[in-house]
Amino acid sequence: MNDKDGFTWWKHGVIYQIYPRSFYDANGDGVGDLPGIIEKLDYLAWLGVDAVWLSPINTSPMYDFGYDISDYRGIDPVFGTLADCDRLIGEAHRRNIRIVMDMVINHTSHLHPWFVESRSSRDNPKRDWYIWHDGKNGHPPNNWMAAFGGRAWEWDGATGQFYFHSFLKEQPDLNLRNRACREAVFDELRFWLDRGVDGFRLDAVTWYVKDDLFRSNPFGWGPNAPRPYDLQKHIYDQNRPETHDVLRELRKVLDGYEDRMMVGETYVVSQGGAKTAASYLGSGTDELHLAFDFSLLFSKYGARHFAGCLSRWYDAMPAAGWPSLVLNNHDQPRSMTRWCMGKDGGQRARVLAAMLLTARGTPFLYYGEEIGMKNGAITRKQVRDPVGIKYWPLNKGRDPERTPMQWSAGANAGFSAAEPWLPVAGTFRDVNVAAQTDDPGSLLAWYRDLLALRKKQAALARGSYRPAYSEPDVLAFYREDGGEKVFVVLNFSGKQRSIGSEGTSRWQVLLGTHRAAGWPIDGGRIDLVPYEAVVLGRI
Ligand code: NOJ
Repeated sequence: MNDKDGFTWWKHGVIYQIYPRSFYDANGDGVGDLPGIIEKLDYLAWLGVDAVWLSPINTSPMYDFGYDISDYRGIDPVFGTLADCDRLIGEAHRRNIRIVMDMVINHTSHLHPWFVESRSSRDNPKRDWYIWHDGKNGHPPNNWMAAFGGRAWEWDGATGQFYFHSFLKEQPDLNLRNRACREAVFDELRFWLDRGVDGFRLDAVTWYVKDDLFRSNPFGWGPNAPRPYDLQKHIYDQNRPETHDVLRELRKVLDGYEDRMMVGETYVVSQGGAKTAASYLGSGTDELHLAFDFSLLFSKYGARHFAGCLSRWYDAMPAAGWPSLVLNNHDQPRSMTRWCMGKDGGQRARVLAAMLLTARGTPFLYYGEEIGMKNGAITRKQVRDPVGIKYWPLNKGRDPERTPMQWSAGANAGFSAAEPWLPVAGTFRDVNVAAQTDDPGSLLAWYRDLLALRKKQAALARGSYRPAYSEPDVLAFYREDGGEKVFVVLNFSGKQRSIGSEGTSRWQVLLGTHRAAGWPIDGGRIDLVPYEAVVLGRI
């Protein structure tokens, strides 16, 4: 796919998320690193991805594994050096793969020099770079809570005030209302743009700005709220209107460079869902380039459910906006574990992959998704995620979806010569890259074929989306661009199904789970076997 009329890499491409600790360990210390990623770039190029999003690699004391940055311009030694990072950018670009960095600017580490200064005294020039507040009769100033549990306010005895943290107390929130702070943050981003990074995944965007009157959140979320945090309506500590101002300014920073992109973590499932997520795209050209709608990820498995999510997401798009699609990330149980545990799991995964890679929008893959990695089993003793450590067994944390990439059936799944920082998932002997690479019937081959097809068919990369329902278990839609028309038919059920196609058009299979490419299909009814996915082109 060529970039034409502004239809650039982050619109037609596929973005692959790497959790660097778990991808490939080149120096044999049990933790994945940047040289390890460089070694695997050829694999990513072979798979056909267009960009890589790296979960945080900046200097960090690792209270939240990098989502607590203590130096935005440094690379944490566990991952390598700045020179390694430059080499990674260069080597990726040589293969036409873009690099997207995770930027965590809602908060820093409590060990970031800015916070060390800020907490040193009430009249320190950086005091207002974080959110400090007096208590109310010895209690926190309001009822705001930390997303990871407990109060969001931490008492600081030395200066006699509370500071605010949306996540861990080791992750104090920056005060992005403060002009000097905001400019300093923008400069940190420019540092990476100048180094050739192609974009950012912005962490925790909806948390950026808090109510300036510090009003308490109202209660009342309903009986099914899973965490105390969800018993509040987060109208004062999240999604404040001024967040859009920050994003508009950030957009201008990126627009000062050629062809850069920012995708925001807009985690608003219970705060308006698709509509709220899409609001962070602004007009489509003045805020985020891409936002995440997690409705698909949290959906039940089934054609009706998925169809509803897609339509709501597309309907919410501003006129100039562009959707993204995601089924997995480092914070949620893997889709294989959520939806594909039975004996037909492999087939169910193929239908899912076909949806993700043929519907309208930029697909995001999470490392290991392409080979069908499942969550690993983590015992109490093995937990590393602070959320799991704190809340076990109520919440066992996010380690199970962060286990090492399964490269082979060898020792440590070929991830490392040493014992990995998290145990390899038990499935690795059957589920690994080496076993699937030369098997044309493997899940990996299916992903690779879908990625290749997207590159060939402009209708899939950029075309319109028109649903064609006729059957509750089948998601069928047309994608059209110029004269090119593609018909995608996905049977999400374990039963035979039959679907009508438009008029008398004659189709041929471009790619299918059960039919070979080139197979002609006459208009009228198409009979589908259980879990059949087929992408059709017009003859
Ligand atoms: C969202 C990230 O995806 C998650 O991993 C992290 O713990 C929090 N933001 C805090 O930065």
